[in-house]
Amino acid sequence: MIDGRALEALERTVGEALATGRTDLLAVLGRGEVSVVLGWPAEQPAWACKRLPPFADGGAADRYAATLARYLAELAARGVAVIDTEVMPVAIDGGRVVLYCVQPALSDAELAVPLIRNDPDRARPIMAEIVGAATTVVDAAVGLDGQLSNWAVVDGRLTYLDITTPMLRRPDGTSELDTKVFLASLPWALRAVAHRLVIPGILDRYHKPRTVVLDLAANLLKERLDQHIPLVVELSADHLTPPLTEVEVRRDYRSDARMWSLMQSVRHADRWWQRRVRRRQYDFLLPEGIER
Ligand SMILES: Nc1ncnc2c1ncn2[C@@H]1O[C@H](COP(=O)(O)OP(=O)(O)O)[C@@H](O)[C@H]1O
Ligand SMILES: [Mg+2]
Repeated sequence: MIDGRALEALERTVGEALATGRTDLLAVLGRGEVSVVLGWPAEQPAWACKRLPPFADGGAADRYAATLARYLAELAARGVAVIDTEVMPVAIDGGRVVLYCVQPALSDAELAVPLIRNDPDRARPIMAEIVGAATTVVDAAVGLDGQLSNWAVVDGRLTYLDITTPMLRRPDGTSELDTKVFLASLPWALRAVAHRLVIPGILDRYHKPRTVVLDLAANLLKERLDQHIPLVVELSADHLTPPLTEVEVRRDYRSDARMWSLMQSVRHADRWWQRRVRRRQYDFLLPEGIER
């Protein structure tokens, strides 16, 4: 696995990028709605490093790591192959800890999006497997994000890679993950309301087979792979009653895109405020320029 000193060097580079705004210092392998995935070493990445927002202390970081370990065990028990992931801490200022989830860097021949883009014939078996997984694995306790960008085919096996938000809920429906950690990238005035009203609704979608498959189909629009939407609609008929419809998929995409663009604008505005007005360093790498 990656060497601890290499990760400290990466964190120093991230620190420099955050202090100067020079994101060109970083090798960005990919971006989701929440995070930026960094390649290490930059020239020829062997590792994909997913940096979590800083934790206040080692205890909070350990609690996150324990929840993630339970989530990975739960996915494995339910038959989902997950890419090897190591959680590694880097100490920063004031006792704070940054955690990185480190995975082998996958190639375009493995990641499902470029794979299907380059060879559309692979779409049917891959989508069928994702729809199957989404509808058998997901329930009130365990969630997952079925979007195509979260999957790869590694050694011939469908493999899940988006694990930085472990979706585990207790029997009373509350999230095991301290979602406040992720809300740290929102302006403080919005955090309480997001925590109570927005996050439970967002998370709930990942705990229902129907919305997980709907999300897979809807996100093909964002990936400019909408030619495969009818395929997912067709496959959904084997698992969902009533099956999805294309109208439902397009409607869902529009409302999802609106919600996430709003979230991004709020975070960008807060970053501007912190930097220009408060003259403080902004601690998060925000995904930039997401096309919708
Ligand atoms: N192990 C990996 N190797 C190569 N690229 C990756 C790897 N993990 C993620 N990526 C790229 O980064 C993107 C975002 O990663 P993901 O873990 O899904 O984060 P998010 O939670 O922000 O969606 C992926 O869709 C993919 O393009
Ligand atoms: Mg993702």
